[in-house]
Amino acid sequence: MTDPVLLGIVAIALAAAAFLWGRAGRATAPGKPSAKPAGGPPDRAIPSRADEILERMTEGVVVLDESLHPVLANGAARKMLGLHTGRLPLKLPQEEIPGVGGRALLTEKTVEEDVAVWYPEHRTLRVRSTPLKDGSGVISVLQDATEELRVQQVRTEFVANASHELKSPVAGLRALAEAISEAIDDDSESATRFAHRLVEESERLSRLIVDLLDLSSLENPSSGPRSEIDLAALTRREVEDLRGEAAEKVIRLRTDLPPVVTVQGDEAQLGLIVRNLVENAIRYTPEGGQVELRLGVDESQAVLEIEDTGIGIPLDSQKRIFERFYRVDKARSRDRGGTGLGLALVKHAVDLHGGTVSVNSELGTGTRFVVRLPATSAASGYSDEAEVH
Ligand SMILES: Nc1ncnc2c1ncn2[C@@H]1O[C@H](COP(=O)(O)OP(=O)(O)OP(=O)(O)O)[C@@H](O)[C@H]1O
Ligand SMILES: [Mg+2]
Repeated sequence: MTDPVLLGIVAIALAAAAFLWGRAGRATAPGKPSAKPAGGPPDRAIPSRADEILERMTEGVVVLDESLHPVLANGAARKMLGLHTGRLPLKLPQEEIPGVGGRALLTEKTVEEDVAVWYPEHRTLRVRSTPLKDGSGVISVLQDATEELRVQQVRTEFVANASHELKSPVAGLRALAEAISEAIDDDSESATRFAHRLVEESERLSRLIVDLLDLSSLENPSSGPRSEIDLAALTRREVEDLRGEAAEKVIRLRTDLPPVVTVQGDEAQLGLIVRNLVENAIRYTPEGGQVELRLGVDESQAVLEIEDTGIGIPLDSQKRIFERFYRVDKARSRDRGGTGLGLALVKHAVDLHGGTVSVNSELGTGTRFVVRLPATSAASGYSDEAEVH
């Protein structure tokens, strides 16, 4: 990897050479110095090398004269600043860049700032401006920091949300433990009730921690080896594990699965997709409802559908439910043990398998999630159906 700081320094030195070389006239692009320096034949090797390095750099380099007019810009800078090849404009369209340069000239020191620019599009540029020794201009190295800052913000928000989500179950555990210690001597019935709730709360906490760990392992791109997985068998296993939960809520759990549908993937991640979608279907379907799973193959894609007759998802929430911690009805979802991470995990895992997940829902009628994954082989024709009342 190239060290951007080192490259920056080299660039500044070389740009300075190029600048001094061409300062008698306004350079139209690096490599076209319009005047020769006085005294002796010029050493062509330095400027032409400087040009090549400047042009190959991913950082933008802009040289401004003492009036902060641009006199040189490499290819990366032209792209970042939306400048056409050929003559440079008298003034840069982004006032913020000469602004940083001006402060560097004034203080005679290197100044580094992140500035927001709106042309040619909204981006954040990290500008590092260094004045030339004789005060005749300033060299600015530009880096596009937009993506870095966005990732940083997502991380900060995630940590803030995760801490917030962890705080309430921990506070709940503490309150319940205190209530038990107060009731244990003369109200053993209440103490037992609190102890049951303590177990429930700690289960919720451990589910949240498992979700957070799953999410962080999915965010590590090297996670999980890839192998041939029978999605039909895996779905059958996951459904069997959830039959108890469905039975408790008197929900009919129906399946229509072919004997084999294979996909290339990671077993744990695929299991997580099926489990989270079926868990949601059971969780958000009132007693007496139905959850149906169908698996098939369509144009060499494995298509898994999970349909319920539950409460449905409002239209404006449908595009947000895959965000971390998003819940349609926070209080109600939390009552049902939800933290809003399940679908974020599903989306992540589906993306890592090169698939898609979509939702179709009508309030009060039900919801259907469809997962499409590239299939490697398929056999169809048989279905098994099981019901739990
Ligand atoms: N089948 C469904 N029917 C109705 N609403 C649903 C369904 N699936 C998801 N939702 C809504 O989408 C939200 C996000 O779902 P998600 O699975 O990400 O979180 P959760 O179920 O609340 O918590 P958990 O992290 O335990 O899965 C839910 O809170 C719920 O409001
Ligand atoms: Mg969920």
